[in-house]
Amino acid sequence: MIGILGSPRRGGNCDILLDECLRGAKESGAAVRKYFLRDLKIAPCQGCNTCLTTGECIVADNMREVHRALLEADAVIVATPIYFSGPTCTTKCMIDRCQCLWARERLLGIKGKPRKGAMILVGGDPKAVFRNAQSEIKAFFAGVGITFHAELLVAGVEKMGEIRTREEELRQAWRLGQGLA
Ligand SMILES: Cc1cc2nc3c(=O)[nH]c(=O)nc-3n(C[C@H](O)[C@H](O)[C@H](O)COP(=O)(O)O)c2cc1C
Repeated sequence: MIGILGSPRRGGNCDILLDECLRGAKESGAAVRKYFLRDLKIAPCQGCNTCLTTGECIVADNMREVHRALLEADAVIVATPIYFSGPTCTTKCMIDRCQCLWARERLLGIKGKPRKGAMILVGGDPKAVFRNAQSEIKAFFAGVGITFHAELLVAGVEKMGEIRTREEELRQAWRLGQGLA
């Protein structure tokens, strides 16, 4: 199982929830790995369309490793804060770079193995708008052949690490990992 962290804050709310989720999965016997997008070199999609015929991305950076992990994992969790009512740009950048995986599934008939996907979204506003990030990440899962499994949406958590005071959500994250595993 892989966890993809789209927050720039190590030790932030998404990071903590993602760790709980991966811990739940690990305790159910899953092998887990986390990708902290901020630490990776991931250029934006160039829109060159080469992947539409080859199924491979021509940009040589850390996204190659993420592509491999996305193809090999049994389950994928994307965790991102809400920024301006959507996912972070780092998360979106990673998603756009998966056009080659979309091409493999949808154009080239190269079907990946069955995989489950989940998302963790955290917004600082008590009335945080989740729908844009939800639909973006669901479209990503559907596009690359990952079956949407579940989501954890947490509103009203703003400060670094504030999620530690929200025991119920921490438990939900752990259970999400168990369910995915
Ligand atoms: C650039 C920026 C934009 C943000 N936009 C929103 C927003 O539109 N809605 C919201 O509810 N919170 C917004 N927030 C607050 C974050 O979602 C919140 O602090 C969250 O807990 C951060 O998660 P993290 O600790 O995992 O980084 C924004 C924060 C930043 C830095």
